Amino acid sequence: MSTTEDIKKGLAGVVVDYTAVSKVNPETNSLLYRGYPVQDLAASKSFEEVALLLWTGELPSESELTEFSAFERANRALDPRVKAAIDLLPTDCHPMDVGRTAVSVIGANHAEAENSSPEAELRKAKELFAAFPAVVAYDQRRRRGQELVAPREDLDYSSNFLWMSFGEEAAPEVVDAFRVSMVLYAEHSFNASTFTARVITSTLSDLHSAVTGAIGALKGPLHGGANEAVMHTFDEIGIDKNESRKDAAVRAKAWMEDALAQKKKVMGFGHRVYKHGDSRVPTMKAALDKMIEHYGRSEMLGLYDGLESAMDEAKAIKPNLDYPAGPTYHLMGFDTEMFTPIFIAARITGWTAHIFEQRASNALIRPLSAYNGPEQRAL
Ligand code: COA
Repeated sequence: MSTTEDIKKGLAGVVVDYTAVSKVNPETNSLLYRGYPVQDLAASKSFEEVALLLWTGELPSESELTEFSAFERANRALDPRVKAAIDLLPTDCHPMDVGRTAVSVIGANHAEAENSSPEAELRKAKELFAAFPAVVAYDQRRRRGQELVAPREDLDYSSNFLWMSFGEEAAPEVVDAFRVSMVLYAEHSFNASTFTARVITSTLSDLHSAVTGAIGALKGPLHGGANEAVMHTFDEIGIDKNESRKDAAVRAKAWMEDALAQKKKVMGFGHRVYKHGDSRVPTMKAALDKMIEHYGRSEMLGLYDGLESAMDEAKAIKPNLDYPAGPTYHLMGFDTEMFTPIFIAARITGWTAHIFEQRASNALIRPLSAYNGPEQRAL
């Protein structure tokens, strides 16, 4: 008979396996991808380089990067079968449902769907990496009543993502802030969606099934859905472009005090692992600051600071990555419900790196439960 102490609700504090993909160190607030500090990668590496690092364990040589870049650019177009499937979905369903369906359709049509050799798995991961931005971009456009924008092979991953989403070339500062967000969102050890991908892989299921399941886990507001929930908070407080930074901060502070008095959980704050601040926040906040300056929107900084300081004073709970990421995507022009699908595009790298790792050293993930239903009884 298990006692309450034996039960690790939410698997909190349970170490289930080794990983060489990333290391989260809550003591030092640091995050390493394959040994490299994430803030250093975000400062100087393209998202394409970070993807290769996560998959292979090493940063690519120049020729490896050139080869991957050409492959990625050649695999960006939205597959007509995927487009047809998306078009069957209502424009008022959640875009995460569209992302989840798209990956499932890509898998169902894949000639190597059931081939889980390391070479085939890496190829499938690279293809998904290249193909997913078009799903997000097209979904946003169709909801707005706009036509599909074809990818451009002369643009890098981040510029092309913005190009397909908005049909115009983004300013270099915007492209860079977007790149930073992708690098920071790429990987974070055994979070709920990655663990989901590993559970599915552990049954010897295929890569697209694992990613599809991971998307379902990422959708929830306690996980990836928090970046859009942050924007709902900003909307609830009210965004007024003409308001001063100071006035916006005062209103945000009052909103937070009220929310905490009502014992509400405020999205974008707190973390299961980091208890003294999320290692990725300073880098993402710097990117947000640049966007606030680029778009001349200091009132957004007021809202940001007001909420953050009120939460710090009341509960000393720090923001997580979703807190600066949400307003950054908003300023770039993305619709709020597209924020978590953008997170998918980034996390496909981490998920698939974990799928490779699980596959290489597999054990079926199957925990036990303590039964607390009725004792055996006669029918
Ligand atoms: N707003 C208000 N209070 C919060 C909070 C938040 N965002 N996050 C944690 N707390 C409080 C809890 O109410 C609880 O207080 P109590 O002890 O007085 O009941 C305490 O902090 C511990 O919270 P708990 O939910 O048990 O911690 P956890 O480790 O299970 O939770 C999260 C981690 C991420 C699920 C939680 O912080 C949360 O729900 N955050 C909002 C969602 C979010 O931003 N998710 C993205 C994560 S990257």
